[in-house]
Amino acid sequence: MSITNELEEILKESKEVLSSSKTEQDLDTNKNLFIGKKGKLTAVLKGLATLSVEEKKTVGARANEISKEIENFVTEVKQNLKKAFYEVELKKQKFDVLKPTKEQEFGSLHPVTKIQYEVEDIFVSMGFEIMDGPEVETDFNNFEALNFSADHPARDMQDTFYTEDGNLLRTHTSAIQVRALKILKPPFKIIAPGRVFRYEEVDASHENTFYQIEGMVLDKKVSTSNLIYTMKVLLSEIFKKEVTVRLRPGYFPFVEPGFELDIQCMVCNGKGCAVCKHSGWVELLPCGLVHPNVIRDAGHDPKEWQGFAFGLGLDRLVMMRYGINDIRYLHSGNLRFLKQFAKI
Ligand code: PHE
Repeated sequence: MSITNELEEILKESKEVLSSSKTEQDLDTNKNLFIGKKGKLTAVLKGLATLSVEEKKTVGARANEISKEIENFVTEVKQNLKKAFYEVELKKQKFDVLKPTKEQEFGSLHPVTKIQYEVEDIFVSMGFEIMDGPEVETDFNNFEALNFSADHPARDMQDTFYTEDGNLLRTHTSAIQVRALKILKPPFKIIAPGRVFRYEEVDASHENTFYQIEGMVLDKKVSTSNLIYTMKVLLSEIFKKEVTVRLRPGYFPFVEPGFELDIQCMVCNGKGCAVCKHSGWVELLPCGLVHPNVIRDAGHDPKEWQGFAFGLGLDRLVMMRYGINDIRYLHSGNLRFLKQFAKI
């Protein structure tokens, strides 16, 4: 066989042998069979000495090409082997980061949060928008703009915690009414859930930190019957039955007339217990028609615009629904208590 033929044979053979390599180590060994010191190509090149100068030139050039081609082929096979190796490794190590392990325990929504979401859904279905406001409020938003002047005695009903710069922890979500009046153009219907704070003597039905959902409607020709109807829809949706309510006069400087909407105590069915202070009724929904001063201060004509507002106590609502007889359970961080609601 001529040297040239031998070279072509080596090239052909090398490709077959190299591509049969199973690992990178294999590949290195196979490579040495052809272009290593003791490789076949090297051996053939040694025979070049017997050739004429002309032949040396052409055969030598071809030999170089072949050497390069084998080298390139080795690189190609090496890359394929690497890729295959990582594919196998990745498959072996594949795991779903989102898949829960058996031991993992999930948290759940707090019953107050759950009821808040439900109430939100009910109001959204009636065309209300949801608003938010900060827990640290200005005196203006929490009191002043709601018709509590600086020396108003009604401020005493809602003492709270003050910051050194003169702001306060909001005592009610009604502060968001003021924000709504400032940024929305009537007519509008909003609700605003949130945490509120009072300097309060804590007992079975009072906490210093609790949750409310504020509601405010501003439109033309709004009356108490709109208010009562809306509240009844809400309560029958929440309790999935007709709820017995009563309306008493209630005083809040920012509504006129103002009411306390009570529901018959669902813990004792009206018989009297610690939650209803043995009266059979629970104060659930202070409400009323928006005071003309509030509407006027916000820059609207109270003859043209009227509205109703309410402040629903979410903790009380949870207590009524599940028959919980002490508000302190709700924010005690007691997991045994909270876990009961995980699957409801
Ligand atoms: N903000 C009042 C409170 O927390 C409740 C209320 C809201 C009353 C809206 C009337 C209208 O005591």
